This record gives sequence, C-alpha cells and structure tokens, in this order.
Amino acid sequence: MTGTVTEVLHPLVQHKLGLLRDVTTTTQMFRQLVNELTLLLTYEATKGLADEEVEIETPLEHTTARRISGKKVAVCPILRAGVGMLDAVLSLVPGARVGFIGLFRDEETLQPVEYYVKLPGDVAERDVILLDPMLATGNSTAAAIETVKRAGATSVRLIALIAAPEGIERVHRDHPEVPVVVAAVDRELNEKGYILPGLGDAGDRLYGTK
Ligand code: URA
Repeated sequence: MTGTVTEVLHPLVQHKLGLLRDVTTTTQMFRQLVNELTLLLTYEATKGLADEEVEIETPLEHTTARRISGKKVAVCPILRAGVGMLDAVLSLVPGARVGFIGLFRDEETLQPVEYYVKLPGDVAERDVILLDPMLATGNSTAAAIETVKRAGATSVRLIALIAAPEGIERVHRDHPEVPVVVAAVDRELNEKGYILPGLGDAGDRLYGTK
C-alpha cells in the first residue's frame, strides 16, 4: 500500500461508526465500539503484510500453510486517545511491540506539542502502525510520523477512525507514502479544529473526562 486512503465501507464498520458518533452512546459502549472498529480496520490495514508458505503437520497429514513473514510490527498509539485503539491491534498482532507518542494540540495555534516519546529500540526494523482515532488538522499525526521516521522507521501506516479531508491532505503533503485506513472521511473541520460531523472529543468520550 502506498499513499492511499482506504475508507472501509463494510456494513459492520459503518453500523458501529454510527453508534460511535451518537451523542447518547455511553463511555463504556464508546470504548467497546472503538475496540471493535479498530479490529476491523486493522484487518484492512494489515492486508499488505508479507507472508510465506510453510510446511506443517495437521493431526491428519502434512500440508502447507501461510505465515506472516518479514518485518515484525510496532504499534504506536498517539496519546491519549490512540491508546483506546491499542488492545484491538495487540489482540490481532500479539507479538507487536508498543511505542507511545505523546502529543497534544495547542488549542490556540492548533500546532502539535511533543511531550513524551518511547519507541521500541528496533523500530527501524519494524512495520509501524500508528493509531490516532481522529485525523483532524493532521498536524499532530504528521509530527508523529516524523518522530517514528526520525527513529529510523521506513514502513509506516496509519489507522484512524474518522479523518477530515484537510488532515489527509496535511499528512500526505509531508508523508505521501503513508497508507491511511479509516472508517470515514468526514466533511470538514470547524473553526476549533473539530471534525464535522465527527464524534466530538475522542479522548473525552473514551475516558469520560468531559
Ligand atoms: N480530536 C478529536 O478528538 N475530535 C475531533 O473532532 C478532532 C480532534
């Protein structure tokens, strides 16, 4: 996958996304839906991982099977809302290492401020999956991609739940080779940098901090 945006239109994804957006959805339900949506988006985002044929024994006979080969995965949630997506990826890719990137958005300038970075030592040899539920202005996501690239990563993909067109453009301006997998590309950003129609503040809705 290169430089692509994949909007996953599968009915399960779109059904769950509608529930996620709904203002009456509880925090508990919201967390569960983020987990389920991330599972489904991870399925799509990992489609291009290299695999190889291996020989195995079933209880009945010798046969061949496919096994993921090549690079191992580093999954990197952007704090704090990206953490709500982490368990889903780890349940599908249990051998992945985890890196954390702490960025907050200065609400005045809308520019990212990096306050914490802890990446696997061998991130350069891994396929990086960045997790950021809301690709809004794209400034913090582009900065996070820059951070993992600075650490040597050459294979980076992004899973977001909802993206604004502005965010996709911003990320692909600096990082055109990064594939983006989302449940929806929404209409626009408002003057405060929120995605419309969106779902509000993903971190607040995940952690009940509104
Ligand atoms: N971050 C969010 O949590 N929601 C938005 O709409 C934009 C950025």
